[in-house]
Amino acid sequence: MNIKQIEDKYFMHTYRRNNLVVRKAKNQFVWDENGKKYLDFLAGISVCNIGHCNDSVVKAAKAQLDVFAHVSNLHYAEPQIKLGEELSKRAFPGARVFLSNSGAEANECAIKLARKWGFLNPSKKGSRYEIICFHNSFHGRTIATLSATGQKKFHGYLKPLQEKFVFAEINNIDSVNKLINDRTVAVMVEPIQGEGGVIPAEKAFLKDLKKLRDEKNLLLIFDEIQCGIGRTGKFYAFENYDVKPDIVTMAKSLANGLPLGATVAGKRCAGAFVYGDHGSTFGGNPVSCAASLAVLKIINAKFLNNSAKAAKYLRKKLDGLKEKYSVIKEVRGLGLMLGINLAVNGKDVVDYCLDKGLIINCTHDTTLRLLPPLIITKKDIDCAVKILDEALNHMPN
Ligand SMILES: Cc1ncc(COP(=O)(O)O)c(C=O)c1O
Repeated sequence: MNIKQIEDKYFMHTYRRNNLVVRKAKNQFVWDENGKKYLDFLAGISVCNIGHCNDSVVKAAKAQLDVFAHVSNLHYAEPQIKLGEELSKRAFPGARVFLSNSGAEANECAIKLARKWGFLNPSKKGSRYEIICFHNSFHGRTIATLSATGQKKFHGYLKPLQEKFVFAEINNIDSVNKLINDRTVAVMVEPIQGEGGVIPAEKAFLKDLKKLRDEKNLLLIFDEIQCGIGRTGKFYAFENYDVKPDIVTMAKSLANGLPLGATVAGKRCAGAFVYGDHGSTFGGNPVSCAASLAVLKIINAKFLNNSAKAAKYLRKKLDGLKEKYSVIKEVRGLGLMLGINLAVNGKDVVDYCLDKGLIINCTHDTTLRLLPPLIITKKDIDCAVKILDEALNHMPN
């Protein structure tokens, strides 16, 4: 049996994989089992933000593996502690960190922390536990994070869902206001909805959310799992908005391909957790943390500036495609998190691009999603846009 047949026989059918068996990946490129080279404009869905197998990340992870891989969170592991310090310093004064293994776990931690804080800061009716989320959002695949996800297609067989997540419209402050009651404790939002079709929150909207948070004594939680860690041209996406949340969650590219999640909470609520309130065996794995420290060293102001320039160039090229093809309804996003919203299903474009050696993806059925590594060059962009142009040219207009 070949690798695809083995997968088909032995794996649960949860992933509809495309026709690519990866043999090797380096920087912005991937090679398949036949040696065919692909330009990767997806970066493992915003995971390998500084490119595949970055030399210093690989070196740091290998060095840590040689010393120890795991000691449990009963002890201190230096890479983990240093990473917490770095993430806190980059976030806001007094921020404290909990490290986990994935995005869903980072959000679970945020939800638990918000509920603990709502328990300690009740309204006249008692504990506050209700969290306002958004239609179209995506927060993970555990029961609680799926319950917080505003897309019905994920809920089907799961009911009953975890209670007390309610849904407002993104960029509509009135819809948020209407949902607030004595039990409301937090608002949880992706600054740019990723799985929901690459939909950025407007600056004014996030500022209004902040105002509401102040007036109603709520927590503001930003899920930056897909849009954080340099993807928008700033380290934290919230830096684009001049709005600091109480809690920010990260995962995906935090260790550039090794599993790691982080929940970073400000002074106002971080102290709500006390010893024993939360934990994880593998959370903040030392190898992942060593890799992450290497990632953070690379993502400095100069690096972000270069990626912002690449983003501007790519955006201009995509806007050019929009002028050319009426099937493109909108090009949207921020930095190197870009969506091309089509009037039709985008699967054929994705398949065409893959065949021509370009990896992209389609989310929410009609949005082509580009999440290239932040190291892409003008030459890469020209190459990707040429293939996209050809693909769109093959579509019925
Ligand atoms: C915004 C957002 N939150 C949470 C998650 C869940 O992360 P993970 O798959 O690491 O659990 C994702 C994954 O795509 C995401 O995009």
